[in-house]
This record gives sequence, structure tokens and C-alpha cells, in this order.
Amino acid sequence: MQISTEELQEKWSSQIELFESYLVNWVDKFATQVPNGAEKLGESIKYSITSGGKRFRPLLSIFTSEALGSPSVSVLPFACAVELVHTYSLIHDDLPAMDDDDMRRGKPTNHKVYSEATAILAGDTLLTEAFGLVANHYTENPRIAVELVKEMTLASGGLGMVGGQMIDLTHSKNTPSIEQIENLHNLKTGALIRLAVVGAAIIHGASEQTFEKLSNYARDLGLAFQIADDIEDAQEGKIENFNFVHLLGLEKTFERLHDLSSSALSSIESLESPGGLRELVHFNKQRVLLN
Ligand code: IPE
Ligand code: IPE
Ligand code: MG
Ligand code: MG
Repeated sequence: MQISTEELQEKWSSQIELFESYLVNWVDKFATQVPNGAEKLGESIKYSITSGGKRFRPLLSIFTSEALGSPSVSVLPFACAVELVHTYSLIHDDLPAMDDDDMRRGKPTNHKVYSEATAILAGDTLLTEAFGLVANHYTENPRIAVELVKEMTLASGGLGMVGGQMIDLTHSKNTPSIEQIENLHNLKTGALIRLAVVGAAIIHGASEQTFEKLSNYARDLGLAFQIADDIEDAQEGKIENFNFVHLLGLEKTFERLHDLSSSALSSIESLESPGGLRELVHFNKQRVLLN
């Protein structure tokens, strides 16, 4: 039986509320601290932070805690940091020099409401503050803070998300191979999704074996997430070069989504309470199946 996206989000309302209150608290506090004359920065950041994201990455961190039988409250600062990086990536992705998009989540993009310069600075701020959040909240165990910073750097920077964005820009005139598309998706989207999971595993001191299982789960789900996004784009008639559907056709793309989802599920089946992580895999599949 299929469960709708709304039903799943309703089911996760306590986890979403827990995260939202942490995030809104962070942004409100930050907005009061910006220097006099820089108030627009706080406003534009708050605009994008509270504009209705699915919170897929924070849910991944929270459900990883649950899967390990650990309290999810300890991952909230890290989950918030990852959401700040994600929000920055979207604000910059929409800029005229990148995708030049006017709308995001059904609302005008940050640079349309404020200005291009403000949107650039909002992104710069979010990325920087993400590292500050981690540095300020995991001080009791500096080894954890250092490991998180290393993973955040790998996932967000030129070897991760930004590297993927660069490939997306530079190769867009050639027809890519499946390997090239998968590599791009793993970097552009998969890296931050994996970060949300492995960061939580680091915070809870997961064993090497458990870390490996979670990492495999997140790698498969990260790619599956972007494939579902490609299907949504194709269903909306968006033609982009690096899109699975345009290269493989709808049927084979669904097959790949299905295989990756099954593989993600098998990686976590031996964990203590993998229920939430399992549901996120179904959620990702269903957002395109129900369209
Ligand atoms: C959108 O990510 C961009 C991609 C990496 C595919 P999400 O689909 O998680 O965006 P929001 O936060 O829910 O809007
Ligand atoms: C956005 O990628 C993903 C990142 C910013 C890393 P896309 O450009 O493919 O996604 P949308 O359609 O703008 O959300
Ligand atoms: Mg883009
Ligand atoms: Mg875009």
C-alpha cells in the first residue's frame, strides 16, 4: 500500500517540529546579532531558511540517531548546520550566474526579493555559520567536532557539492554518459545527503561496521534522491542535459530508482531501529510514483 507524502510528513511531525524549533531559534538569534546596518542579511537568511523545505537532510540525521538507539537531540546542531549549507547551495544555485531561477518552493528566489549581492552574502554567511555551529556545539568531545568539520568540508566544497555544481555548469553542452551523470549527482546532491547520515553516526560513536552500513545506505539514497528529482523535472517538462530520464527513458530510470532504493534498504536492515530511515527511502520513491 502506498503512503502519500503528506501522510508521511504527518507521521514525522514530532521530528520535524523538533528540528524546526531549533532552526527557527538559531535564525532568530542570528538575525538579532547581525551588526547595525546589516539587518537585510538577517532578513534574507530568515526568508530562505523558513520558506518551506522538506527537511529531508535533518530527518536523515534524526532517523540515523533513532536507528542507533541514541537520543536525536544531540544531532540537532549538526542537522541545523547541514540545512544551512543546503540552503546556501540553493540560494547560490538560483542566482542569475547559475540557474537564473525566479521561483523556489513556490516563492520568489532570494535574489528576486532582496538583491543579487544580498543573496551572495546570505549564502556566504550560511556556509560560514554552519561550521561555527559545529565548532560551538561539540566542544565536549573535540575529536567529534574535528571529524564533523572534515566531513562537512569534503561534502560541501570542491570535492563535493561545489565540485558537482561546477561539472553541471561546464559540461552542459555535451551529451553525458550515465557514469558522468551519476558522478555529478553523487557530488552535487549525494554528498550532502551522505553527510547528514554519517555526521549523525560520528556524533553517536558508531562502530566502523555500522558506519559503513549507514554510509552505503546514504550513498544509494543520495543518488536515488536526485534520480527522483530528475523524474519530477521530466514530468514537469524541464529539459536538462544531466537528467537520467532524458538519457535512459522513464522506464529504465524508474528501474534504477527501484534498485538503488532496495540496495539502500538492505544496507540498514540489521540496525537497531531502522524504521525512520526505511520510511525516508519510501518517501523518496513515492514523491514521484504518486505524481
Ligand atoms: C533540492 O533539494 C535540490 C536538490 C539537491 C535536488 P530538496 O528537494 O531537499 O529541497 P527542499 O529543501 O526540500 O526545498
Ligand atoms: C540544486 O540542483 C542542487 C544544489 C544546489 C547542489 P538543481 O539546480 O539541479 O536543482 P533545483 O531544480 O534548482 O532544485
Ligand atoms: Mg543547478
Ligand atoms: Mg537549480
